[in-house]
Amino acid sequence: MPVPVNLWKKSMFGKINLAYLALQVRDLARWRKFAADMLGLPVPDTNSDGALALRLDDRAHRLILREGGTDDIDALGWEVADPMDFDAILERAQKAGANPEIGDPALCQARRVERLVHFTGPDGVRNELVMGLGQASTAFSSTLMPGGFLTGAMGLGHVVLSSPDRQLAASFYRNVLGMRLSLELQFSIGPIEIGGVFLHCNPRNHSLALFEMPTKGRIHHVMIEANDICDVGGAWERAQKLKVPITLTLGQHPEPDGMISFYGMTPSGFEFEIGAAGQLIDPDNYKPTTIHSPSDWGHHPTLRAKWNLISAAIIKKFR
Ligand SMILES: [Fe+2]
Repeated sequence: MPVPVNLWKKSMFGKINLAYLALQVRDLARWRKFAADMLGLPVPDTNSDGALALRLDDRAHRLILREGGTDDIDALGWEVADPMDFDAILERAQKAGANPEIGDPALCQARRVERLVHFTGPDGVRNELVMGLGQASTAFSSTLMPGGFLTGAMGLGHVVLSSPDRQLAASFYRNVLGMRLSLELQFSIGPIEIGGVFLHCNPRNHSLALFEMPTKGRIHHVMIEANDICDVGGAWERAQKLKVPITLTLGQHPEPDGMISFYGMTPSGFEFEIGAAGQLIDPDNYKPTTIHSPSDWGHHPTLRAKWNLISAAIIKKFR
């Protein structure tokens, strides 16, 4: 049930959104092909620092890919519109001991923003707080995802990170960025216990989730949300045709999220999720819940998903 716009506007909440995800990837050429053929994204620009600027809408970029020696997250980009909110978050980052630093003009230019500070929380993940993420020079259009993506004030979608201490990490995002608890998840796959904390910062059910589970890198998956569920069906068919490894089959997350989605492997070895029909929440009257099953139906883990989990657990044990 969509949240009425006037209700959201009245709220003091919802002033921040996950504007972009910056990634370091080992094989930019494979990503370029994957973004075009699987995700259906338009031909990307190259930013001033050489990074690939992948778009989900009319903004300059939502996924920023830098070629490097590993496959993992570089930064989460959080956008606020009001300079007072920017300063308040900056002050809270200082008080939390996160050592915020002002981004220089070269970084602002590369990120296509007017203003940027960056800081790192206890989970070791770099956060970039920005204002004025630029517009792309052309309107967004996609032949493969004709309905486009749900972004705007709710950001790019969501990101799920693995965290050695999910509650500690969550408290940082809550205290510094003002995020709120959406739900907690506790379940197991075979002998492996998995715990997750989901946080929201606007009516999207969650923009960030922190999981204690074995993963090879810091990022477990990035979710992008189609406006039209038919585009999820198209993406599902495309994944089979392109032989993109599926990790979780088509399925639906439980209330109050309700997202219908599937998961597969990116060229970097972490996962992507393409979904639709996620329910929005009323952030001012929302009561967090705890769930013990990640899905109402479907989302069956494939052999690939089980292998990912087991191999990451083995690596973690001997690290
Ligand atoms: Fe997800």
